[in-house]
Amino acid sequence: AGRAAGPRRPAVAATVPVAVAALLAAASPASAGTTGTAGAGDPYFPLAGNGGYHVLHYGLTLRYEPSAKHLDGTAVITARATERLTRFDLDFKGLKITRLTVDRATAAYRRDGQELIVTPHHALDKGQEFKVTVAYNGTPKQVTDPDGSADGWIRTDDGAFVAGEPQGAMTWFPANNHPLDKSSYDFTITVPSNRAAVSNGVYLGKHTAHGQTTYRWRQSEPMAAYLATATIGKFDIERYTTRDGIQVYNAVDPREATKAAPVLKKLPSVLAWESKLFGPYPFRAAGSIVDHADVGYALETQGRPLYDSAPDLATLVHENAHQWFGDSVSLTTWKDIWLNEGFATYAEWLYSEQHGGATAQKTFDKLYARPASDDLWAYPPADPGSGENIFGTPVYARGAMALHELRTAVGDQAFFRILRTWATQHRGGHGTTEEFVRLSERVSGKDLDSLFQTWLYTKGKPSQA
Ligand code: ARG
Ligand code: ZN
Repeated sequence: AGRAAGPRRPAVAATVPVAVAALLAAASPASAGTTGTAGAGDPYFPLAGNGGYHVLHYGLTLRYEPSAKHLDGTAVITARATERLTRFDLDFKGLKITRLTVDRATAAYRRDGQELIVTPHHALDKGQEFKVTVAYNGTPKQVTDPDGSADGWIRTDDGAFVAGEPQGAMTWFPANNHPLDKSSYDFTITVPSNRAAVSNGVYLGKHTAHGQTTYRWRQSEPMAAYLATATIGKFDIERYTTRDGIQVYNAVDPREATKAAPVLKKLPSVLAWESKLFGPYPFRAAGSIVDHADVGYALETQGRPLYDSAPDLATLVHENAHQWFGDSVSLTTWKDIWLNEGFATYAEWLYSEQHGGATAQKTFDKLYARPASDDLWAYPPADPGSGENIFGTPVYARGAMALHELRTAVGDQAFFRILRTWATQHRGGHGTTEEFVRLSERVSGKDLDSLFQTWLYTKGKPSQA
C-alpha cells in the first residue's frame, strides 16, 4: 500500500478569494464565533461545505476490493482556520471511522447525518494551519440527488463510477464539500491487479505487489471536492502528451472501446480549439474515463471527464469546455449553475457552427420556436429555484440561449473577448452571475441589464429574441 504524500500547495489562487472569504464569514453566525458552521451558506444545499476553515490539500489513500465492495481509506486533510475554532464540521456520509486525529492528537467527534463534527483537543487559532487525519472503511453508498439522479460512489459490475456533483464526494472521503473551497489533491489508490483506479490530474505511476496494484495521481491545481474521482474498473489505458505539452491519460472500458475510439481521437483537436476560444487549457493533465455503467450522465471530473458510456463528440466538447467553465472557474453557489452548464452547452453550439454543422443562431431559433408551455421556459437559468432543478433544460439550453443573446447584442469581437476574459480572470478561482454581467458590460461598453434580466432571471418565454 502507498503512503499519503505531503501537502502540496495549489498552483494558483493560494488564498481564499475575497468574495469567498466574505461568504464563508457570512455563513458564520456572530453568536457562535468559535465553532465552524455546518454549511457554507448555499441556499440550495445548506449543509454542503462548512464554515471556519479552508482546506489546502487532501491526501487520500484508498484501497478498494470490488468483490467485497469494501473501501479502506485514510484522508489527511491540511487546512487553515479562518477564525478561532473550538469545533468544526466535515461532510462525510456512511462509512465507519476508526481513527480521527487533529495535529496527531486524538480528537473527539460526533456524527449527525452528513455532518462529521470534530472537537480538537486544543482550540485552533485564527489563521492556524492544521492537519486532520481520518481513517475509515466500509461499503460506500451513493446518494440520491433532489432530482432523483445518483451521485457519489456508484458501484458498477467491475468496480465503481465515482462522480460527485453536487453532493457525492462525502460518500467516499471526508470533505469540505462545496465548490467555494478548492484544494490540491494527492490520490494513492490500491485495487486488484486486474483493475485500474483512475483519478484526477497527473498520473504519477503504479506499483504492483501480491496481486494488488497501487495507482498514484496528483491534482495540483485547485479543485472542488465534487470534481474528484477514483473510478475503478477494467480499462484499456492510453497515454500521450499533446503538442501543447498536456499529459493525456485515457481509460476506456473494453466494452465501449470501438465506439469511443473515433471520438477520443479528437480530444487534442477539441482542446486546441477550446484553448483558442477560451484561453490556455487550465490544467497540466487531460483525458477521458469511459466506463460502462447505467448512470445517465457524464461529469466534468477535473482534468479527465468521466462518461458512463462512449461519448459522442458534442458530449466530449461539453465536458471539456467545463474544464474552463465550472472546473477552473468555479461556482460560488449552486444557484449559479448556468455559469457551468449554459457555457458548456454554448461551447457545443459554437463547435458545431465552426465545424460545418448548424450555426448557433439556427440552434437558438429551433429552441425559441418551442411553445411557451415547453419545459424550456419552466424557470429562469440563473434562478432555478432549488437543487431539484439545477440540471434541467432551462439551465443548459436557455442558459446557452442567454449567451447567444449576449453575443447578438455585443457582437462577436466583444463576446469572445468576454468569454476569454472570464476564464482568464477567474482562473483557478470563482465567479458569480453578477460578476459575469458586470464584465460583459465593461468589455462591451453596453448597458445589458434588461437583456440579462429577461434571459437569466425572468420566468417564462421571453416575448422577443
Ligand atoms: N455536470 C454534468 C454535465 O456535464 C451533469 C452532472 C449531473 N449530475 C447529476 N447528479 N445528475 O452536464
Ligand atoms: Zn455540463
